Amino acid sequence: MNAPNPERERRAAALSEAYRQGGVGTQYRAKTFKGYIIENEAQQKAMKTLKKYLTTAMNDAWGDDQRRWLLLQGNTGTGKTHLLAASMRAIILSGRRMHRCCYREGGELVRLLKSGAFGKESQVSRPLHQVVHALFGGMDLALIDDLWVTPPKTEYDKEVLFSFFNTLYGSGQPLVMVSNLPLAKWPVGQREMSRIKERTTVVEMMWADHRQGGLI
Ligand SMILES: Nc1ncnc2c1ncn2[C@@H]1O[C@H](COP(=O)(O)OP(=O)(O)O)[C@@H](O)[C@H]1O
Ligand SMILES: [Mg+2]
Repeated sequence: MNAPNPERERRAAALSEAYRQGGVGTQYRAKTFKGYIIENEAQQKAMKTLKKYLTTAMNDAWGDDQRRWLLLQGNTGTGKTHLLAASMRAIILSGRRMHRCCYREGGELVRLLKSGAFGKESQVSRPLHQVVHALFGGMDLALIDDLWVTPPKTEYDKEVLFSFFNTLYGSGQPLVMVSNLPLAKWPVGQREMSRIKERTTVVEMMWADHRQGGLI
């Protein structure tokens, strides 16, 4: 039997808590980079880009012109959520110091920010950027899955997401996003689009659905 290792236990507990808070499905809680099967060059490239990005982000080793956000964009079943879950696991369980990393689904992100902004009487009680900062300020990395799966229903929903992007843009924090929707089709204003484009490296994940056996 292994000797007790308080640091390892602390990290395992932090990972469980991050899974719980993010509502990461139980089927994704065992996903690892090792368990991601590489069958084509595009998968190889996606994995390499993601790992390099995470290493840079965790060491805060950005070059002057380096893009601090990453978008995994592609069709269903290509392993995007798998890779987000594996990233969270790798980051929280390893490294010289413990890193704080959080996962949220896009729809849940909007709900969370709105509930942080509204007081009991449904009046805006707190500026959105403060709410974003309170939730993400202490994070070394934010992972946002399935952006735009639930399109913003109201102008306020859009404003909430804009504030999320603008606040993280301002603080220079790293962000990994996942979306089925190509960047050009995102329902954001010109100002947000220009900031997102400036900051984001896009990794296209356009192969066949793994659930369907990976055949096109
Ligand atoms: N390259 C791969 N190697 C191993 N498992 C994979 C791979 N791609 C997808 N999967 C598995 O297929 C299922 C669907 O992947 P998922 O990450 O949910 O896809 P997406 O989020 O892109 O829709 C998951 O169980 C995932 O672990
Ligand atoms: Mg997914």
